[in-house]
Amino acid sequence: MANVIIVGTQWGDEGKGKVVDLYARHADVIARFQGGDNAGHTLVVEGEQSIFHLIPSGILHDGKICVLGNGMVINPAVLIREIDDLRKRDLFPPHTRLCISDKAHIIMPYHRGLDSAREGYTKGTKIGTTEKGIGPAYEDKVTRTGIRLCDLLNDEVFKEKLVRNVEEKNFLLTERYGAEPCDRQQIYDEYRGYADRLRDYATDTSLVIRRAIEQGNNILFEGAQGGHLDIDHGTYPFVTSSNTVAGSACCGTGLGPTEIDAVLGICKAYTTRVGGGPFMTELTDEIGDMIQQKGKEFGATTGRKRRCGWLDTVLVKQSVRLSGITGLIVTKLDILTGLDRVKICVGYSLNGETYTEHVPADITNFEQCRPIYEEMDGWTEEIGEARTIADLPSGARRYIERLEALTGVGVIAVSVGPGREETIVVDHPFV
Ligand code: IMP
Repeated sequence: MANVIIVGTQWGDEGKGKVVDLYARHADVIARFQGGDNAGHTLVVEGEQSIFHLIPSGILHDGKICVLGNGMVINPAVLIREIDDLRKRDLFPPHTRLCISDKAHIIMPYHRGLDSAREGYTKGTKIGTTEKGIGPAYEDKVTRTGIRLCDLLNDEVFKEKLVRNVEEKNFLLTERYGAEPCDRQQIYDEYRGYADRLRDYATDTSLVIRRAIEQGNNILFEGAQGGHLDIDHGTYPFVTSSNTVAGSACCGTGLGPTEIDAVLGICKAYTTRVGGGPFMTELTDEIGDMIQQKGKEFGATTGRKRRCGWLDTVLVKQSVRLSGITGLIVTKLDILTGLDRVKICVGYSLNGETYTEHVPADITNFEQCRPIYEEMDGWTEEIGEARTIADLPSGARRYIERLEALTGVGVIAVSVGPGREETIVVDHPFV
């Protein structure tokens, strides 16, 4: 048995969905622990594309327990739509169980309203959020006014919390932001229906995880977003509102820290970012356009074009340290095929100072940094059929070796195409 956490090492969209799906067949339980439907996992199975925002990517495998942990913020409308869509397409396997933590917080219409109203309200403060209400829902959690799934399931409690929340949020929406107010009765009616649909899935998921550990099961903890969108350790304020580092798997599911066996970091072969915020290696030239188009770098949740740039190993190194990463998985290496020369950022310089291990906390300093690059030969041979590192052309091999040397962590898998089979597996966390 093994308890394995998978996290992104960059700014999200590293291709976690494919990797989780790949390992999920060997796991008994797949658990999400933070975030909400700001995440979007795109999977291609037998040529058919599926995008999940809330349900763990492992859902496609029969006989699994899929957990939405207490650390998540859940939009019930989106979750129910995903469940219904999976069932309609015959993609919800008969022996798979979905368990939702009764302590997970519920995203309400006023959260989405506030998220949108705040974006750009004060000049120069636009974060570029997904406007899914993630930040406002976590705010309520921290101010202890949030509505959890167990509250939604208790009519009296729900009514009472709804009255208080709508009163306060409507004041903010109308008086502060000049936005439309929410209709309490409409929300109540809508959410009563959601309660009925979700009741059977609600449970104390920390116990589900405990039982699985006692039975010697393999558990995969699926992170969303990436290390540099972490509310504490990321490029604040251009971050999401949850902790995205591996430790969050413990708080977000009830897993004890001593139970963790491995932490895998997903590292895209280049860097992307959606939304605002400094991006040291961003390419605004034709190479950036090529990566964006060839890599189909559009946000799975918002459809926004992702900003693209060279691999930044300072970001990856910091994530390795903060998440205790024991193995790296490189994704989308095939997108760089065709480039004669490739660059890897190995540090930042600012006023004679060099940063090689961390991103400066002060965002204004970070914005002024300049990337320090190493340049190396690229490769032109197609790599989609490579199944071992030795099958890769020498340029691609050297690229992987350099990443390992710079981060001090071994690469245990490389994705060389979107399909499940287009993967080099060096080492496996579960077998
Ligand atoms: P929020 O999570 O919607 O509040 O957005 C905050 C920041 O995180 C924005 O820059 C978003 O673009 C970014 N973000 C949130 N979720 C994801 C994701 O799954 N992938 C990449 N970026 C994300």
